[in-house]
Amino acid sequence: MNHTVKFNLNGSPVEVQVKSNEKLLDVLRDKLGVTSPKFGCGVGECGACTVLIDGLSVRSCITFAVEVEGKNVVSLEGLQADGPTKIQKAFIKNNAFQCGFCAPGFVMSATELIEKNPSPTEEEIRHALAGNLCRCTGYKNIVDAMNEVSQENKEEGR
Ligand code: FES
Ligand code: FES
Repeated sequence: MNHTVKFNLNGSPVEVQVKSNEKLLDVLRDKLGVTSPKFGCGVGECGACTVLIDGLSVRSCITFAVEVEGKNVVSLEGLQADGPTKIQKAFIKNNAFQCGFCAPGFVMSATELIEKNPSPTEEEIRHALAGNLCRCTGYKNIVDAMNEVSQENKEEGR
């Protein structure tokens, strides 16, 4: 069965026809041209498909598209209106990624964390990013980058 779903995508209203069982990840990538969320595992375990829905990080591979009716969906594309964010700059500076496949998902989970808790401890950083898997890096540079963001925010009084 087809449904019309209306929601905000990266700040703009969109309307799209979807099937009842169609996943948000497939709709974003195949129908709306939003390709930063990646298909990694398809079962909610790797975090490569992470987007924010009303500010909360969600695995779009296990979210039905019909569930986002009326909601605000943000992908990596929606964070960069003014160029790379502080988190992205820190990831670049620390060479946090190698192949980069996991990077959009990490950035989205990190964005959720920093919105809620601008200067997290390393333990809080590791906990918040525990659902995002990376096959390349060993995570150290990712955590270093996030520690830098946390420190910077602390110095700015956030
Ligand atoms: S592709 Fe969605 S969690 Fe792995
Ligand atoms: S940089 Fe390759 S999977 Fe993370």
